[in-house]
Amino acid sequence: MTTVRDLRGKAGTEPITMLTAYDAPTAAIVDEAGVDVILVGDSVGNVTLGHETTLPVSVEAMAHHVGAVARGAEDALVVADMPFLSVGVDEKASIENAGRMIKEAGASAVKLESGPHTVSLTERMTQLGIPVMAHLGLTPQHVNQYGGYPRQGTDRESAERILDLAVAHEDAGAFALVLEHVPSNLAAEVTAAIDIPTIGIGAGPDCDGQVLVFNDAVGLSEWSPSFSHQFGSVREEMEAAVDDYVSAVESGSFPAAEHSYEERELDDIY
Ligand code: KIV
Repeated sequence: MTTVRDLRGKAGTEPITMLTAYDAPTAAIVDEAGVDVILVGDSVGNVTLGHETTLPVSVEAMAHHVGAVARGAEDALVVADMPFLSVGVDEKASIENAGRMIKEAGASAVKLESGPHTVSLTERMTQLGIPVMAHLGLTPQHVNQYGGYPRQGTDRESAERILDLAVAHEDAGAFALVLEHVPSNLAAEVTAAIDIPTIGIGAGPDCDGQVLVFNDAVGLSEWSPSFSHQFGSVREEMEAAVDDYVSAVESGSFPAAEHSYEERELDDIY
């Protein structure tokens, strides 16, 4: 079973792999491939629940998906993403919501989209035994403030803000840091400045690890960001299989004799 300590040990020596998953069979595939960390991202909102953004995802929905992933994974570290406004509004509710992911759903850690408001929260959660993965750069829960999903840390002032926040979250006890959609030279600078592993998405090759959304990585998404890469064509495979099924039922070739069973004892009746 991968632990937060194992990740820290890998940082700077071996690349860390992380993928999202939202259900048990996908978690089993990712786990069996030897991926270190499975993130049950709040991207479940747009990737599998049909929402436009991650904002409508509830704590209940997250706990439901985290439970499925925790049942499907054996070795990977399962990290639950905390949905919009489930943390940061008030400390007690934040800790209770994060605690549910560990106590009820079976995650081993939580991820918080981070900012100045999550520094003391990260410290408190860590003290209480809730390991925290921080997330800086593009934080998609700010979509309405950004007016989209633009690259972050592109000028000196905002790059320094990200660097300072990375150090502050490490000092507060975060065990790892996701850096999303930032210039690769900034990600390299952050990675050199802190000892906890950085895990990049759209952040270049110099992070300690990489994360992608599962559906983007396997080629199941209709659209994926330019910093992602399709390592397969699962959507085409699924479309072909469904087309074949429809044709087989319509032509009468399915079900065939081998898919059916006749009970001899009923011969007298029917
Ligand atoms: O929700 C998510 O899937 C994420 C990753 C893209 C880092 O936050």
